[in-house]
Amino acid sequence: MLRMYDIIAQKRDGGTLTQEEIQFFVKGYTEGSVPDYQASALLMAIYLNGMTAQETAQLTAAMAHSGDMVDLSAISGVKADKHSTGGVGDKTTLVVAPIVAACGVKMAKMSGRGLGHTGGTLDKIEAIPGCTVSLTPQQFFRQVNEIGLAVIGQTGNLAPADKKMYALRDVTATVSCVPLIASSIMSKKLASGSDCILLDVKTGNGAFMKTLEDSIALAKAMVAIGEHNGRRTAALITDMDVPLGHLVGNSLEVQEAAETLMGKGPQDLLLVCKALASNILVLAGKGTGAQCEAMVEQALASGAALEKLCLMVQAQGGDAGYIRAPHTLPRAKYEKQVLCEEEGYLCAMDTEKIGISAVLLGAGRETKESTIDPAAGLRIEKKTGDPVAPGDVLAVLYAEDEAKFAAAEAEYRSALTFGPKAPAPIPLVYALVEKDKVTRIS
Ligand code: URA
Repeated sequence: MLRMYDIIAQKRDGGTLTQEEIQFFVKGYTEGSVPDYQASALLMAIYLNGMTAQETAQLTAAMAHSGDMVDLSAISGVKADKHSTGGVGDKTTLVVAPIVAACGVKMAKMSGRGLGHTGGTLDKIEAIPGCTVSLTPQQFFRQVNEIGLAVIGQTGNLAPADKKMYALRDVTATVSCVPLIASSIMSKKLASGSDCILLDVKTGNGAFMKTLEDSIALAKAMVAIGEHNGRRTAALITDMDVPLGHLVGNSLEVQEAAETLMGKGPQDLLLVCKALASNILVLAGKGTGAQCEAMVEQALASGAALEKLCLMVQAQGGDAGYIRAPHTLPRAKYEKQVLCEEEGYLCAMDTEKIGISAVLLGAGRETKESTIDPAAGLRIEKKTGDPVAPGDVLAVLYAEDEAKFAAAEAEYRSALTFGPKAPAPIPLVYALVEKDKVTRIS
């Protein structure tokens, strides 16, 4: 008979768990027959001693099967998903999903809310007046079949084992562990039912994974899990040492995404979105890398991608007029400039602190219960590598309550490092991780 005590001891002593033992733990913990203290002990043993690729794949499959496995067979054609490990100013889904849909690949996407200093796509979509992220499965399937894309909150009971384990990891210092992060993310991706999964693994001071090596290790683990479970999976490693684009905050990020689809967005965001979109098309079997890049260019230049975002907003209850004229999106009541006091170059930005500054302005949640101000956030005027002089505007802060500016400005200023010399340029896309292959891009 299996006993949690023996499973914990086995992992504590550096052993390998069997599929049966892993399933016993996941099922027991989800149902409540395994208590938190035994689950904590096992998670810490995994944190300290790791897991083999096979154990990680088995853990992920057990977590995915702990709840509903979404069946997307009602949607015709190839279904693709993308997932970002989280960042600041990362509005890529709002650009990439419409491009991919315009190229004929369905995006049936379940997204999340902001977490800590990072933003979440659902909060951004809800910043568009009238737009909902709650569709019934039938509405979701119909919308994706008709217009090629939908972005909604998780439906039903998706990977409940992850929900419990993530909450426990959060309070037992067992979050930053590759097999545990990989199984957490991939259990939800597998349960969401897409055929292809493109992962955007962020690296740098604003990301979960601060070093390129750790980011590649996480990407490899997640790609292996996806492929092991029959999904075409790849990962791009992209930068999060600098916020992506210029706008941070929900309504502001919708504005920047729409401007990017119109050809008026920032270059860094555009480049990352093109790389993500073309790699999704490659995974979905639409052609070679070069052919898919050309399809992406065409979807942007023709306005077809912008049209897809308008259709999605309309289908989800919003007014597409906000997308066609993004400056009409709700604006915050107050704004405040952050002025430069230095001469030289902006040498580094602590991206996590910039995310926290946006949270302090009301763009994110400080506690689970907090409500967010959709129009709050910030516009970054100077980024890493830019020359600066006293009096230059470094950023503009936006809030519904002027009292929020002092703490947010202090946090923003504390994120910046100035110096006399320009820093080395930071790459935007570092590597492509595919099954059994890592291609360094810069
Ligand atoms: N995101 C997740 O969903 N899970 C983790 O463990 C880390 C990031």
